[in-house]
Amino acid sequence: MKKILIVGAGGQIGSELVPYLRGIYGANNVVATDVRECKGLAEEGPFEVLDALNPTNMASAVARHNIDTIFNLVALLSAVGERNPQMAWNINMNALFNSLEVARQHNCAVFTPSSIGAFGPTSPKDMTPQDTIMQPTTIYGICKVTGELLSNYYHQKYGIDTRSIRFPGIISNKT
Ligand SMILES: NC(=O)c1ccc[n+]([C@@H]2O[C@H](COP(=O)([O-])OP(=O)(O)OC[C@H]3O[C@@H](n4cnc5c(N)ncnc54)[C@H](O)[C@@H]3O)[C@@H](O)[C@H]2O)c1
Repeated sequence: MKKILIVGAGGQIGSELVPYLRGIYGANNVVATDVRECKGLAEEGPFEVLDALNPTNMASAVARHNIDTIFNLVALLSAVGERNPQMAWNINMNALFNSLEVARQHNCAVFTPSSIGAFGPTSPKDMTPQDTIMQPTTIYGICKVTGELLSNYYHQKYGIDTRSIRFPGIISNKT
């Protein structure tokens, strides 16, 4: 049975994914966390306030709950990120870096969504291949390409089970 830690669980994807995973693995095996209180998630299972930019606290949660899988959903999305690129890089990249490092130290798998924002104006638009020109012009897209490369690196270098999917735009009717 998996023990899952979700960081950034209170957003559009997490608010749908947490109940779904709890339905599969049991509520107590899915620990939802976010930098802010999330009432709905806390009512249905374990919830902690956790800043993913604090690797010590993330490692502590992983150890306390005996976690083997981390879902990193922390993000500053495209439009907000473009208004403050420095903050977007800090949040998007360091939440991922901390997730990967904690995973390396505690032998966890890591899932992090990528995005079609990882493509750019020079990417082929029809039948876009998996491996192709990726020159995004937004800081969000640049973070996503970097995140894909960093996740691959942790897999190749350390054997961590890192996975990702390039999602299109997703809007939750819960959030
Ligand atoms: N929604 C989409 O259209 C879409 C598309 C492609 C990829 N994605 C990716 O999926 C993931 C989740 O996206 P989303 O739409 O749920 O985003 P969202 O903005 O709705 O949620 C992000 C969550 O991260 C939390 N957060 C921010 N800083 C944090 C920190 N320091 N520590 C802990 N939590 C923090 C926020 O409070 C929020 O609840 C992201 O990686 C995003 O890039 C989303």
